[in-house]
Amino acid sequence: MTHVVADPETHAAAIIDSVLDYDLVTGKITHQSANKVIDLIRAEGYQVDWILETHAHADHVTAAHYLKQQLGGQIAIGERISEVQQVFAKVFNLREEVGVDGRQFDHLWKDEEVFRIGSIEARVLATPGHTPADVTYLIGDTAFVGDTIFMPDYGTARCDFPGGNAETLFDSVQRLYTLPDETRVFLCHDYIPETRTDYRWETRILTQKQHNIHIAEHIKKEAFVQMRQARDKELAMPKLIVPSIQINIRAGALPEPANNGISYVKVPLNSIFAAK
Ligand SMILES: [Fe+2]
Repeated sequence: MTHVVADPETHAAAIIDSVLDYDLVTGKITHQSANKVIDLIRAEGYQVDWILETHAHADHVTAAHYLKQQLGGQIAIGERISEVQQVFAKVFNLREEVGVDGRQFDHLWKDEEVFRIGSIEARVLATPGHTPADVTYLIGDTAFVGDTIFMPDYGTARCDFPGGNAETLFDSVQRLYTLPDETRVFLCHDYIPETRTDYRWETRILTQKQHNIHIAEHIKKEAFVQMRQARDKELAMPKLIVPSIQINIRAGALPEPANNGISYVKVPLNSIFAAK
């Protein structure tokens, strides 16, 4: 899900977790999804101040760089993105091409950092576990939780990527559970369990505490960690993990073109992605 948050008074806006359309077979990148966001922003007369990432996604390519070119705004992500960059710069042997200090982003959030979208106050909450760099954006009475919890009937995000940790995710979710019960929770994905057919993207903290099948508040840490680790062993790698990571650690910019003018992504053979 991509979210647009706007202040009705000033028309200042933020875009959260955008996406490029990437064809895995051909490497063709198109912009239908991102252009829908641009159309909305222009139709409403919004001024984009922030292009926010909840983390470096492993299953889709961010449109952050493209949106910044089209609309302006600052691209921001959690400061621990540098840890993610360090791991993947090694995996893809990109050390000379990709700075591993977050320099590709305009702003790196510290835990509890406060910012504004027009007249609306927003706050960043570090919520690692899925990856080290995951953050939640608290904006007004809403929380954009990225890949932490999903709809109550689907559960939680996987924790088996490099730097992921189920115990850490448990602690992050307990942090989310200290938010007011009525906080509106907006999701990053809905994978739709077998028990329903429609996409959903909004729930509340109280509903999660009472009903989340993985991490309702009565579930103990040990039980959660055991469940999460067992489930992660069964999950395939996301189809777009190889291109996504290489582009997303660059804030959505394509790799520097080779001397023929074409940008390439690398596929590491028999590396960590083949361990599954
Ligand atoms: Fe993710």
